[in-house]
Amino acid sequence: MTRVLVLQGPNLNLLGTREPDIYGRETLEEIHAGIARRATELGLDVAFYQSNHEGDLIDRLQVRDFDVSIVNAAGYTHTSVALRDALLAIERPFWEVHLSDPWKRDSFRQVNFLHDIAAASIVGEGARGYILALEAIASRFDGAA
Ligand code: DQA
Repeated sequence: MTRVLVLQGPNLNLLGTREPDIYGRETLEEIHAGIARRATELGLDVAFYQSNHEGDLIDRLQVRDFDVSIVNAAGYTHTSVALRDALLAIERPFWEVHLSDPWKRDSFRQVNFLHDIAAASIVGEGARGYILALEAIASRFDGAA
């Protein structure tokens, strides 16, 4: 069974109350429950990890107990060479997801250290973006690693 890690960066633990006009009203827990349900339907094994700390996200990736990841690096998308290096070092494909569309927002969000190394990027679809990433992974990996 293909093992998928959903990696969530800083401040995403506050979803539900964090700038709901931009990020929606669903909590991270609710989003993860929806991802878990869809993963079961698709025959994927899914694990979740959220941290507000860059090094913790990198440590989690280095465990390498997954075949593919879905990464919303949040603010680190726009700043972290170290996270980019980790994603390359572990040699696992990843789908980049953002709830909002950073390309249509502040100019500092146009800097993106992950986009060119992602298998694909899904932006501006809200929580549905994670489901779309999961479905793309299921069709690519055919449910079995
Ligand atoms: C985000 C977009 C980032 O620019 C921002 O720093 C976030 C959330 C999103 O999901 O839309 O924290 O990754």
